[in-house]
Amino acid sequence: MQKLKIGVLASGSGSNLQAIIDAAAAGTLPAEVVMVLSDKPDAYALARADAAGIMTAVVEPKEYASREEYDAKLVKLLQLAGADTVALAGYLRIVTPVLLEAFPQRVLNIHPALLPAFPGLHAQRQAFEHGVKVAGCTAHFVDSGLDSGPIILQAPVPVLEDDDADSLAARILEQEHIIFPLALRLLAEGKLSVEGRRVYIAD
Ligand code: GAR
Repeated sequence: MQKLKIGVLASGSGSNLQAIIDAAAAGTLPAEVVMVLSDKPDAYALARADAAGIMTAVVEPKEYASREEYDAKLVKLLQLAGADTVALAGYLRIVTPVLLEAFPQRVLNIHPALLPAFPGLHAQRQAFEHGVKVAGCTAHFVDSGLDSGPIILQAPVPVLEDDDADSLAARILEQEHIIFPLALRLLAEGKLSVEGRRVYIAD
């Protein structure tokens, strides 16, 4: 089996990036993170990448006239780094077909809700304020919609009586760190096939 060469896009603290790095180091994810890109110069994800010896770059949206031009720059950098797979790990921008067509069926996202409920930003807070009894997270293929691509894995997280949005988000994050590397592993193993909206997982 060939190792994935993952380019990670991250806007924030990068704990999902760390989970991928750790799984690769532990041998549970046959992958190498070849580059970390961020739209935010102060993203802690960049420090995590530095600590792991991974090449990084910041690409600031304000320097590009359109989302397509921005994504074209990302594609160029990812291809230079030799990436064959893109993981959106807390990446808070919508990607365009420019990126998706460069990496067909190879762009994965982790989202902190049981999609299709609560897409977009602050999903954990949306779920909490809606009063759901079961929250969770979703690893999915990315399409050009908002958190709308075919679902690979989901993990449920019960909402406890004494939860607030932050405590719930923290328990969801623990599950994200499990299912995102697992979804990438299934991709590496060639076990995922997509038919319409459904993702089939081979034994
Ligand atoms: C994670 O909860 C991730 O699911 C979420 O941002 C957080 C980033 O945490 N992503 C989205 O909301 C995308 N719609 P991290 O930077 O510590 O991985």
